[in-house]
Amino acid sequence: MTKKPLFIVLDGIDGCGSTTHSQLLAAFLEYKKDFKVHLTHEPSKSDIGKLLRKFLKNEEIPPTTDALLFAADRDLHYHNEIKKRLDDGYIVISDRYIESSIIYQSIQSDRISIEWIKQLNKFIGHPDLTIILDIEAKTALARKKEKDLEKFEDTSFLVKVRNLYLSRAKQEGYHIISSDDIIEFVQEKIQKTVLDKLNTQN
Ligand code: TYD
Repeated sequence: MTKKPLFIVLDGIDGCGSTTHSQLLAAFLEYKKDFKVHLTHEPSKSDIGKLLRKFLKNEEIPPTTDALLFAADRDLHYHNEIKKRLDDGYIVISDRYIESSIIYQSIQSDRISIEWIKQLNKFIGHPDLTIILDIEAKTALARKKEKDLEKFEDTSFLVKVRNLYLSRAKQEGYHIISSDDIIEFVQEKIQKTVLDKLNTQN
């Protein structure tokens, strides 16, 4: 297996398990397969990312402002963190990336088109592999504590989010893995998908 850099994104609706599975995947690749691995997430740990986390609790932020800030956070995240690690030969795993913006922000407002989100994110680099973790909205929300819910964590909103993830995944050729199963089984499928990609890249 070649040890070339690879940019992997795990994405999906709130409660799909992208954080748990990103962490398990990073540990597998680093400790079992001996790769240099950089694990990261969006919103990022930058000041813009911190502001976005605050805004996730605030229903009064216009969706257009969210879209602009998520794009700014990603631009900074890509150029100052992800690209540098890829250039140093790391496998980079990001828990959420541009697909989250395309889906959440376009559903938030009829005024926001997928094309506009793509324009805002024009200067970022794209993942080599995107895996969508799929689960029913109801099941995903049942995993969350009611008092900690953020503004997108509502069943009818997440049903729309899930449907768009699924239709875009088919259109874009992303891998869809059901996360409504025992963690170890789901993780095994993710690891297999990543190992297949590593084996076929030249
Ligand atoms: P998440 O990391 O799943 O939150 P938590 O750590 O609380 O589980 O994601 C934060 C939220 O931000 C999630 O509802 C999706 C939303 N989001 C967007 O709307 N657009 C984006 O571009 C990104 C990256 C996230």
